[in-house]
Amino acid sequence: MQRYALVTGASCGIGLALAEALARRGQPLILLARRKDKLESIAAELAQRFDVEVLYRVCDLAEPLHLTGLLHELEQSERAIGLLVNCAGIGSGGDFLAADWPRVQEQLELNILALTRLCHALGQHMAIQGGGQILNVASTAAFQPIPYMSSYAATKAYVLHFSEGLREELKKRGVSVSVLCPGPTRTAFFKNAGLHTGRMEQGKLLMSAEEVALAAVRGLERRQAVIVPGWRNRLGSLLPRLLPRALVRAAAVRIGKLFQPA
Ligand SMILES: NC(=O)c1ccc[n+]([C@@H]2O[C@H](COP(=O)([O-])OP(=O)(O)OC[C@H]3O[C@@H](n4cnc5c(N)ncnc54)[C@H](OP(=O)(O)O)[C@@H]3O)[C@@H](O)[C@H]2O)c1
Repeated sequence: MQRYALVTGASCGIGLALAEALARRGQPLILLARRKDKLESIAAELAQRFDVEVLYRVCDLAEPLHLTGLLHELEQSERAIGLLVNCAGIGSGGDFLAADWPRVQEQLELNILALTRLCHALGQHMAIQGGGQILNVASTAAFQPIPYMSSYAATKAYVLHFSEGLREELKKRGVSVSVLCPGPTRTAFFKNAGLHTGRMEQGKLLMSAEEVALAAVRGLERRQAVIVPGWRNRLGSLLPRLLPRALVRAAAVRIGKLFQPA
């Protein structure tokens, strides 16, 4: 039976690049995001270019009732999901106390709750089917606290730890869990989060979504536990695990300020 990859956040950025990299490998897809027009044209384009079946579902994952509806639909469907890619995510930056609360709540709903619920529901199906793969998108922000992006970085620390724990739990059920930790990547993410990338652009420190997606699919093929694209990001993710915590926090203030207006 043909098994689909469900890719959330597939209407742009890293999710779109992941969908394209998977379609290129002949993987049938179900794309998910909120913008129907984007999904519709991406699905048609990928299906035509790579001769694979590409379906799409519109869903606001930050709305628990929408997610309940989606899970019900997937349960009723005859289409089996063999790969879940939890890529949809948003950020928020700046002074936490001045943050717009609905944005922070939306971030927690999407980055943590929706991702966890999809792993719970689809992980069960995969275990019953005798196997599957899950790719959760965290960030290099997961490896240390980041002042002025405190709540976002903490959501990604959750994704990293949750995914690694789940990997060990699901191993014996035939489900392989990987977590992708991209560093700063050229997408709409920063603008939408009210963050600035000027200083990163000057230092040519941004990767492209395509480079990130290529590293991700290679990591998926090798069933790698933690996938960190790019040597700079791999080095950056190692240091916080070796250095004293006080030093990590002090350095993290500088990282947080990189994304604030000069
Ligand atoms: N860009 C970076 O530097 C970077 C670095 C590390 C990790 N990441 C992570 O990578 C993931 C993708 O980010 P990106 O950089 O590709 O950003 P992006 O270009 O802004 O893409 C975000 C995606 O999430 C979808 N989305 C947002 N809110 C949603 C909601 N409520 N329900 C369903 N879908 C929703 C968006 O689609 P719609 O607007 O159509 O819903 C879009 O497809 C995120 O988890 C982010 O935290 C990004």
